[in-house]
Amino acid sequence: MFKTCGFDSSVRVLSFPNAFDISSELGVVGEVEERVFPDGEVLVRLPDVGGEVALVLRLFPNVNDNLIKLLLAIDALNDMGARRVILVLPYLPYSRQDRRFRPGEPISSKTLLKTFSAFSVHTVITVDLHKSYISEYAPRVLIKNLYPAAEFAARVSADVVLSPDVGSLHRAEILGSQMGVPHTHFVKSRDRNTGVVVLTPKSDVELRGMRVAIVDDIVSTGGTLVEACRAAKTLGASRVYALITHCLFVKDARDKVLSCVDRVICTDTVLNEFAEVKVGPLLRKALDEVTTSNI
Ligand code: R5P
Repeated sequence: MFKTCGFDSSVRVLSFPNAFDISSELGVVGEVEERVFPDGEVLVRLPDVGGEVALVLRLFPNVNDNLIKLLLAIDALNDMGARRVILVLPYLPYSRQDRRFRPGEPISSKTLLKTFSAFSVHTVITVDLHKSYISEYAPRVLIKNLYPAAEFAARVSADVVLSPDVGSLHRAEILGSQMGVPHTHFVKSRDRNTGVVVLTPKSDVELRGMRVAIVDDIVSTGGTLVEACRAAKTLGASRVYALITHCLFVKDARDKVLSCVDRVICTDTVLNEFAEVKVGPLLRKALDEVTTSNI
């Protein structure tokens, strides 16, 4: 049931099939078997392990089914007496629902993290949380939030890093400093009913003749990135690159993005044709830190 990957550690790494490429970076991997019943219910089966266990799963696509599989797997590990359960979830869905936007709505990221906490999860290792403060929703869970800045910066030469909104400004700042170039941002508003995005450049944005690297955590419908790209080109940008952590490419987003952006670079937190930046080494380092720290 366990395949050796040449990495010696006491932590048992259990992987769902959709994350074998990532989990093979993490150590000795056992497989979580999964099954779907005719009525749509799911079943998971795990090797009998105790001690410290890292469970690896890509939650996108099929987010809701995968979340149920994850909860079933965690509960099975608790029943087996696992000492510490560490979740390795390269992309954490529901993170964008980080506050109550309208009365009557849940704060869905809180719901998710509180559930992990209620299941006694020890650590969640993830990449580029939409907002890092959501980790405060589960104070008893250690959240390791990783960002592959050096890996992104090594891939393009740009004159300026641009965030499409204030929310990604910190990413632009980190990447700009990593690349040794300035950063700037637009101001975004989105109609909560129609989803239509409107971007306004900051008054002093100067992009004429520049190679612009747009940075963001997520491309979903592509609306934000395409609007930012068009606005950058209207302001005279010579080339536009996109450095995006989680490329979901919902519906026709891929084609929309390619109609404006000259080069797209994504990570493999979500599998897609632009997933050049491999997060396995970062996840492995974080897992090492957790398993050796005794926190
Ligand atoms: C929003 O705050 C995020 O950082 C992304 O800009 C957004 O989720 C992208 O979504 P879409 O591709 O649908 O515009």
